[in-house]
Amino acid sequence: MRIALLGGTGSFGTALAVRLHAAGYDVVIGSRDAERARAAAAELGIDGAANEDAARAADLVVIATKADGAVETARSLRDAIGATPVLSVAAELFFSKDGVSPTTEATSIAQRIQDVVDAPVIAGLHSLAASNLGGVDAPDEDALICGDDPDAKGIVLELAGKLTTGRAVDAGPLASARALEGMTAVIVNVNKRYRAHAGLRVTGLH
Ligand SMILES: NC(=O)c1ccc[n+]([C@@H]2O[C@H](COP(=O)([O-])OP(=O)(O)OC[C@H]3O[C@@H](n4cnc5c(N)ncnc54)[C@H](OP(=O)(O)O)[C@@H]3O)[C@@H](O)[C@H]2O)c1
Repeated sequence: MRIALLGGTGSFGTALAVRLHAAGYDVVIGSRDAERARAAAAELGIDGAANEDAARAADLVVIATKADGAVETARSLRDAIGATPVLSVAAELFFSKDGVSPTTEATSIAQRIQDVVDAPVIAGLHSLAASNLGGVDAPDEDALICGDDPDAKGIVLELAGKLTTGRAVDAGPLASARALEGMTAVIVNVNKRYRAHAGLRVTGLH
């Protein structure tokens, strides 16, 4: 399976690329600038391409751009994405002297992406910090995934199960993305308070 990481030149996309490549996936790093993608990818021993070319050749498109560019990236690449499933990992964060807050938008980024592409959109991995994902060992935490399309969600759950030593947890429909994206702000506040690298574990599962 070929996975395109749009905006994969960033810290999260790079960490995800390393883990997915190690898990045996065919990964391509995307960028708005093809040369930047190729340079970042070469360091990891994988392919790099312009976001559009990466999306066209993929079996799964991960939108790993800076959060405030995610919806516009999806909108501009609608044709290139076509019917290929999309994974949104984006969470908008607002920083103030009191801490970090989630977006005040009424709908999640993932739902806004779903409004501008034809493909099924899945949301997840928000609680996996790039610093944890990119460490030597797989992070000891769960990965929460939500979405409305069972086949697309199945692909992402399988992939997510290979990223951590925890579980890939099905968190329900795409409407859950609002809460999952908001959880990122909670984790950042926890990290700040405890000088930690926190992740999530869901208890009580069979
Ligand atoms: N960092 C984390 O720990 C973490 C954890 C979970 C989820 N996430 C999510 O993962 C995504 C990436 O996070 P990150 O920390 O790697 O972000 P980042 O470094 O700020 O940005 C990633 C890439 O996005 C591209 N980009 C920047 N502005 C853009 C725009 N306006 N439109 C399109 N592309 C743009 C850039 O690539 P080019 O210039 O090469 O195109 C950049 O390298 C975010 O949505 C974030 O919410 C991050």
